Amino acid sequence: MKTFVYSAHAYDRPFLEQAARKRHELVFTEEKLTLATAHYASGFDAIAVFTADDCSAPVLDKLYTQGIRYIALRSAGYDHIDLHHAATLGIRVSHVPEYSPYSIAEHAVAMLMMMNRNLLEAQRLMKLQDFRLDTLTGFDIHGKTVGIIGTGKIGIAFARIMKGFGATVLACDPVQHAEAVALGVQYVSLEELLRGSDIVSLHCPLNETTRYLLSAKQFEWMKDDSILINTSRGAIVHTKDLIQALEDKKLGGACLDVYEREKGLFFEDHRHAVIQDEDFLKLRSMKNVLLTGHQAFLTREALTGIAETTIQNLDYWQLGYKSPYELHADETFRGSSARASAKDSGSITVLSI
Ligand code: NAI
Repeated sequence: MKTFVYSAHAYDRPFLEQAARKRHELVFTEEKLTLATAHYASGFDAIAVFTADDCSAPVLDKLYTQGIRYIALRSAGYDHIDLHHAATLGIRVSHVPEYSPYSIAEHAVAMLMMMNRNLLEAQRLMKLQDFRLDTLTGFDIHGKTVGIIGTGKIGIAFARIMKGFGATVLACDPVQHAEAVALGVQYVSLEELLRGSDIVSLHCPLNETTRYLLSAKQFEWMKDDSILINTSRGAIVHTKDLIQALEDKKLGGACLDVYEREKGLFFEDHRHAVIQDEDFLKLRSMKNVLLTGHQAFLTREALTGIAETTIQNLDYWQLGYKSPYELHADETFRGSSARASAKDSGSITVLSI
């Protein structure tokens, strides 16, 4: 299938080429999909996009008039595409529901430990040959309470690690997962979770019900000195309210792999630009904020998984089948776990191609 790949970078392109094994004609650009770049895909059957690409209605309209009928998202999240509009146009959309949930869960843990044990500062002092420990005190995770918002694949992987540390794990999710209950995770309301947790980690998708799920009121509920981890999507957190909570010393710290206005910022080289986003600059300047540029997925295993499922989706379409990972206009909070378990139960025939 002739596929135009937007937002292709040196880190993921070889994995896609390897997975395609010349079954599909892939043409790559590092540029993002926007209204201005949509015409690059003219004459192609499909496009493959990532989280920073703009799949809003006007862009979909333009793609459709150019003949695009298939969009393969190379991400689990699908908040960057107007699924309703794609369905109206008859454009089929697939995503990658699962690709090493460990990569994201482990990054969340890495950020937590880096913040808690002051590793950045420790390294800085080490280079200065200042071996005093006065500023480096952390706390044990053992015995603490960790709240997980969203117990799908990534949330459960994170819960398992936190259980291994010896933490009590609370969770909130409209769907109670048996696997989480079996791990000893206790489901509670959002308020109970926030009031009771020393560490809160976000692992739910961004949609109409989760946008600004954590705003001023919820930060007020959180324990003093608690740590927030967000490896999910930036807009689940109200950024200005988060900054206020950090400034008021309500929260102890924030570990953020995602940022509300990361589009046009992350994944790109801005070394020679003057960044104007005040909230971003503020967060970056705060000692108790750790930021990474949406890299939680960046492991070899995850990149292999993303590439293989993306190509598998193209395989299905090329052969005239529906992919098991197609998204529908009514996807809201049911998340990808539901589809993954449908597949496991054998209700979907997987082709050996
Ligand atoms: P999943 O679909 O397996 O699980 C999501 C869970 O969130 C489901 O159990 C769902 O019921 C729950 N949920 C939905 N609405 C909720 C609400 N209002 N409150 C609490 N829970 C709610 O998804 P998975 O694979 O675990 O991924 C979670 C999210 O992680 C993705 O949607 C994506 O935004 C983010 N992600 C971030 C990456 C990164 O590199 N930073 C990479 C991959 C995913």
